[in-house]
Amino acid sequence: MKFFVDTADTKDIAELYETGLLDGVTTNPSLIAKSGRSFLEVVAEICKLVPGPVSAEVVALDHATMMREAEVLRKIADNVAVKVPLTIDGLKTCKALSDDGTKVNVTLCFSANQALLAAKAGAAFISPFVGRHDDNGFDGMELIADIRLIYDNYAFDTEILVASVRHPVHVLESAKIGADVMTAPPAVIKSLFNHVLTEKGIAGFMADWAKTGQSIL
Ligand code: G3P
Repeated sequence: MKFFVDTADTKDIAELYETGLLDGVTTNPSLIAKSGRSFLEVVAEICKLVPGPVSAEVVALDHATMMREAEVLRKIADNVAVKVPLTIDGLKTCKALSDDGTKVNVTLCFSANQALLAAKAGAAFISPFVGRHDDNGFDGMELIADIRLIYDNYAFDTEILVASVRHPVHVLESAKIGADVMTAPPAVIKSLFNHVLTEKGIAGFMADWAKTGQSIL
């Protein structure tokens, strides 16, 4: 499963990229607002930091303006994936851009039927929001499993990009179901490294090693 980080904070992105485990980045208008930076500048900087896909979202609601915005976004760098909302205009834009060779990430997906539409529109990625699904009393992981089943039934190439990931169990369940990608905030990705027994084990080994009085170097 690929790991994308869901942030527009370039310091966090650079730090995670150094681990060698980061495959891409997702942003959205809220994350850009949080960064306090110019949208086009920050996306250009992220695209230089990470060679994998970097999702940059249109903010227009009509197809014609989305196409004009997408034109600006895809010119930033070859690794920009244009993000569009799951609406009729968004999917029209997805189809036009995908037919033209641009990677499109269809966002704000909350049903398996919506995911089916996005795949038919040629989306490179579908972004089901599991955290917001759970928040509203639905089962986010059931949604991922349904989309996996449907995409496999018809051999769709669209990658399932699990979004709105809030905790390590979302990551674990996504991997068990066979999602292609998950995108999570930096703190969630960092928490995946942690285990109390790993820390305890290291402390024990270090204490015993100190008793030997030896050094490797
Ligand atoms: O980028 C889309 C998605 O990951 C947003 O997550 O936590 O705002 O629901 P969240």
